[in-house]
Amino acid sequence: MTLVNDLRKNIDETVRFIRTKTSAAPMIGIILGTGLGALAKEIVHDVVIDYAEIPHFPVSTVESHHGKLIFGTLSGKPVVAMQGRFHYYEGYTLKRITFPVRVMKFLGVKTLLISNAAGALNQAFGRGDIMVMSDHINLLGDNPLIGRNDETLGPRFPDMSEPYSRKLITVAEQIARELQIKVKKGVYVAMQGPNLETRSEYRFLRTIGADAVGMSTVPEVIVAIHMGMSVFGVSIITDECFPDTLKPITLEEVIAVANTAEPKMTAILKEMVRRL
Ligand code: HPA
Repeated sequence: MTLVNDLRKNIDETVRFIRTKTSAAPMIGIILGTGLGALAKEIVHDVVIDYAEIPHFPVSTVESHHGKLIFGTLSGKPVVAMQGRFHYYEGYTLKRITFPVRVMKFLGVKTLLISNAAGALNQAFGRGDIMVMSDHINLLGDNPLIGRNDETLGPRFPDMSEPYSRKLITVAEQIARELQIKVKKGVYVAMQGPNLETRSEYRFLRTIGADAVGMSTVPEVIVAIHMGMSVFGVSIITDECFPDTLKPITLEEVIAVANTAEPKMTAILKEMVRRL
């Protein structure tokens, strides 16, 4: 994966492998985050491929993440969904983490819907809230686009003035109103993890303009924008990262809250797909 040409060669190999399993041409790609796998149940499955079978795909090491690439239909539209994603803290390079997004693009995906579990920094947010991502801050200390750029994939200096499509945000907000689901909107900051942050770090993250904090999403979005895709991102707020009242949290609690709030997110995403 170090040579530019290897990246393109690997994408082509992976696409060729997937083409031996399905001729599906989904225009919508979906990445499901921690505790948010249930949307996958709403997809009418056509072909499911284990990540372990797919050439050049990393294999997820976190037990709460199933590693499956699902082809099927959601609200009658062809989609491809990643059930289970990869994190920087697992030890993969950002190039590997984002490889599936590149493959999605070559399968025909134009719009990427991406979800995650995140902690609230904005005190107007609370556990169980849904936050539409309006922007992000990359504090991973790394970037999936570092290294020689392959112009056949995207530009050297991709623009980031609107990583999250304003059009898609408007559609989501309209749907949320219609379904009477309250949604927040805000800026997501990506940290390396795997530890949660200190009170002082939460204070810092709030000061620099972040509303929610997590350990994912930003690398995939950078690569999706590099390849010219439209992106919609949504966070489920699983815990409150307020420095003055901070309490310890566990992964089990994060997953439990994500599971409880998930139906709201699923309803919005299903309807978005229908209208895309
Ligand atoms: N930090 C704090 N709380 C969280 C995170 C995180 O990265 N992800 C989900 N809840």
